[in-house]
Amino acid sequence: MTNLAYEATEQELMDQFIQRIEAGDKIEADDWMPEEYRTALIKLISMHGISEIMGAFPEKEWVPKAPSLHRKLGIMAKVQDEMGHGQLLLRVAEDLLKPYGKNRGDLMTDLFNGDLKFHNVFHMETKTWADAGLIGWLVDGAAIITQTNMLAASYGPYARALQRICAEEVFHAQHGEAIIMALAEGTDEQKQMVQDALNRWWPALLMFFGPPSSATTGSSKQDVTIKYKIRLSTNEELRQHYFTKYIPRILSLGLTIPDPTIHFDESQKLWIYRQPNWDDFKQIIKNKGPRSQERLNLRRTSYQNNAWVREALSTKAE
Ligand SMILES: [Fe+2]
Ligand SMILES: [Fe+2]
Repeated sequence: MTNLAYEATEQELMDQFIQRIEAGDKIEADDWMPEEYRTALIKLISMHGISEIMGAFPEKEWVPKAPSLHRKLGIMAKVQDEMGHGQLLLRVAEDLLKPYGKNRGDLMTDLFNGDLKFHNVFHMETKTWADAGLIGWLVDGAAIITQTNMLAASYGPYARALQRICAEEVFHAQHGEAIIMALAEGTDEQKQMVQDALNRWWPALLMFFGPPSSATTGSSKQDVTIKYKIRLSTNEELRQHYFTKYIPRILSLGLTIPDPTIHFDESQKLWIYRQPNWDDFKQIIKNKGPRSQERLNLRRTSYQNNAWVREALSTKAE
């Protein structure tokens, strides 16, 4: 009898939750939410947060080597912003983790153990200054597309954090575009440097949006985030949007897309393109990318070196 009453209450809560989401209400940290929703949010937001932090590393490498003081200040500010985005998002994730008795420190342990993945693009090498510019222009450009797609997310704390983050990402994309435009208008060597960077980064940029749903197995994770109105579009829809926005811009700089098959098919209203190697993608996000271990080691060292700050902050005033 008691069990039946409990089941009915759960169902009512679920119905109310779905009604709120359908009505465009925001769900807050202390509100009732189904387990599936909470775990999807934790996975998404903790991966996003940790990727912001790991994403600062490829550009950080170029702070001492930036070609002018102006560029150095620009890239330093961007690196600082990305670390801030990471902190903001890990706080949002931490609130969701409370029922499991976990905190941000546990997320960092998960990262070091390989249980928490970071974004495929941040495992890659930044070989030249053009790579640093290209990250700002095309990686932050891709991030703007995926993140603006979640500005109306049903989870209020994430949607609000994204408002601020997206505003700053626009500056990042402009910073990257300015670097790339200067190189594209420069010497033959500088133009080649940009083309080489594009050739190196193209597969990683395609992978940024994740596999199309047909390439995923079992129940699609993307479907859960769409079902609960955390995001609006599928991986493939976002990738198509990216092509429409950026391919004309890339071509207008006199660059060549390193895929001779890419074209817009008018009848299907779709970009047709060569798929990246999704087996490579799986390896990269398992921390087997070109710079995965080096960057994880850097994060581990800095986490250990800063332990005293966390201890000082957690000490209660007497
Ligand atoms: Fe960011
Ligand atoms: Fe950014």
